[in-house]
Amino acid sequence: MVMSDSSAIRLALMTWYRQERRDLPWRRTRDPYAIWVSEVMLQQTQVSAVLPYYERWMTRFPTVHALAEASEEQVLAVWQGLGYYRRAKLLRQGAIYVSEQGFPQNAEEWRRVPGVGPYTAAAIASIAFGVPAAVVDGNVERVFARLAGCGETGEALLRLARTWAEDILDRGNPGDWNQALMDLGATVCTFRKPKCEACPVSEHCIARQSWTVDRYPAASSKPKTVRRTLRVMVPFAEGLFGIRRVAEGGWWEGMWEFPSSFSDSERSGQTEGWQEDLPRFACRVTNHRIEVVPFLIRPSARDASLTWLAEDELRGLPMPSPQRRVLRYAKKALGLVE
Ligand code: ADE
Repeated sequence: MVMSDSSAIRLALMTWYRQERRDLPWRRTRDPYAIWVSEVMLQQTQVSAVLPYYERWMTRFPTVHALAEASEEQVLAVWQGLGYYRRAKLLRQGAIYVSEQGFPQNAEEWRRVPGVGPYTAAAIASIAFGVPAAVVDGNVERVFARLAGCGETGEALLRLARTWAEDILDRGNPGDWNQALMDLGATVCTFRKPKCEACPVSEHCIARQSWTVDRYPAASSKPKTVRRTLRVMVPFAEGLFGIRRVAEGGWWEGMWEFPSSFSDSERSGQTEGWQEDLPRFACRVTNHRIEVVPFLIRPSARDASLTWLAEDELRGLPMPSPQRRVLRYAKKALGLVE
């Protein structure tokens, strides 16, 4: 792309952003902690899904010190439902680090904070501190692929997009520039059905000018969906539910669950007569499609290997979303409707 194009793109996109920017709560502050929280939540989750969690989080943990003082369990309880729970655990560890060391002021120092990778470091440094660091997320990659007519995928695309982003970065206003690119990708240069007629930089876009927008970004070989069956047993005895901590190394480590096990054959997915079937459902975790097969059992005694809690005691505990759904079904079957 020639230089004169870069300055024209900068001007057009920044003008567009001033008019069209999404009004988001983390854009009304320069508080690095608030911006950090928002960037971590936005890593694998869309803005609309993040909003209620962000508000709840900032009410519960308004400062980095409040977060540093919270237990992992308290943190997971507020995060539950957002998924990718490692993010929450690392955010807490990062808060402990920052509350001892103080807030880093540039991208390099941010990268030393637990859980902060190159993307998040550049986002926080540019948005909260005005440091000229370019941000490349999936949105920016797609905008670049189309503008430049770049047919690469995966690592090669990311590398080229990074070079381009460094080059075109508006060094006078890097925070707004980065967010303008992300907003363009999220609202105009969308993956499906991009709104090229509303795009402020369409005249600089190689894909648009050659009527090949649908070819970019080029298709990469995605990891295949893995199908699995998760049997979940809800033990209910003497008015209490039996639960346990999720084993170390599992997706939901640190949270609480009803005893469950993956069983990948249909045959073992059948329940016995002393079990009461609850409605089955499917959910997605990363590239897995999980068929959840829940059932209720009513043992006559409380197994000592489990923790037994009343329904209201379960409310404050971090539980994975599919387990919460199983609990809802179990309560319905037991006549303990919410
Ligand atoms: N995605 C991740 N961070 C974002 C931000 N600051 N604005 C818009 N979209 C984003």
